[in-house]
Amino acid sequence: MATILLTGATGYIASHTWLALQSAGYSVVGVDDFSNSSPEVLNRIQELGGQRPVFAQADVNDGAALDAVFAAHRIDAVVHFAACKAVGESAAEPLKYYANNLGGLVSVCQAMQRHGVKTFVFSSSATVYGEPQFLPYTEDHPLAAMNVYGRTKLYGEQVLRDLEAADPTWNIAWLRYFNPVGAHESGRMGEDPRGVPNNLMPYVQQVAVGRREFLSVYGGDYDTPDGTGVRDYLHVMDLAEGHVAAVRYLLNEKKSVTVNLGTGVGVSVLDLVKAFERAAGKPIAYKIVDRRPGDLPAYYADATLAKALLGWSAKRDIDQMCADSWRWQSGNPNGY
Ligand code: UD1
Repeated sequence: MATILLTGATGYIASHTWLALQSAGYSVVGVDDFSNSSPEVLNRIQELGGQRPVFAQADVNDGAALDAVFAAHRIDAVVHFAACKAVGESAAEPLKYYANNLGGLVSVCQAMQRHGVKTFVFSSSATVYGEPQFLPYTEDHPLAAMNVYGRTKLYGEQVLRDLEAADPTWNIAWLRYFNPVGAHESGRMGEDPRGVPNNLMPYVQQVAVGRREFLSVYGGDYDTPDGTGVRDYLHVMDLAEGHVAAVRYLLNEKKSVTVNLGTGVGVSVLDLVKAFERAAGKPIAYKIVDRRPGDLPAYYADATLAKALLGWSAKRDIDQMCADSWRWQSGNPNGY
């Protein structure tokens, strides 16, 4: 079976993808600099996967360190997760975002080129669609970024289109993630953001374990069924399995692909809070406050192309997302 290199390997989505790839029979090599993740993740991967993780601590902008990884392992494909993703921080520190998200992407692709590896999976985001012209978003929806973070994803997509145009022997998957939530069903692996969470589910989880007093619901007056924002939340293990399907497609079909990875189902902030209350068996305190600048009222995926091309669709519903998030957070109240 093929060997897959994961960058950002100890991060939230990558760590779950690591296990999913191993379950599907792939060998995995991980690279991370621990700038936004914990080395403890490697122990959990070993515990859950039953294999000692093959890992190198390295920054993706360090070409020599990447060369050493490619020299030590016969890599067949790269899944590039390593990137920053906080919208607010991206406005305050644009150069950090361009250096990590674009510089890192170019550095990884150059290392691949030096070692003759041309199969690449890119972590893109639904954020590249910008203001919805229509919903659900299909992959041919016009693209427009709304903030610095979004621009790094949009430009990153374009870097890879240019690379493929110059050398069509590259096989690339542009995966546009919707809102990943949930945790490994064991409760031993999950999302562990540093500092105050920006995203909804980790914030709800921390209210549930008493680390935060209440959730601020950003806006109760949107034109949505209950007035709160609507998103397409998908279970991180479904997302992980989406990566496995993409890797398999690239290696077998030797064709590039651009797909949404979402459920196609819109869930409001209050729907999610209620589902979490059911899962945790306790109330979640919340207050409706002003809208968060830059937030869209509602968006969700047209998920039919991923099903048609990759044979992948999300299997786990919002109740399972909440149950698994709660199992993780209640068993690990302070994260890793
Ligand atoms: C955010 C980013 C998006 C990025 C994604 C992945 C923005 C505007 N968008 O998506 O570009 O790809 O994270 O990290 O930041 N909410 C609350 N209270 C909270 C947190 C969130 O009510 O404390 C609401 C939001 O208003 C939104 C929903 O919950 O309606 C989801 O928010 P969040 O989890 O931050 O994800 P997005 O904003 O969809």
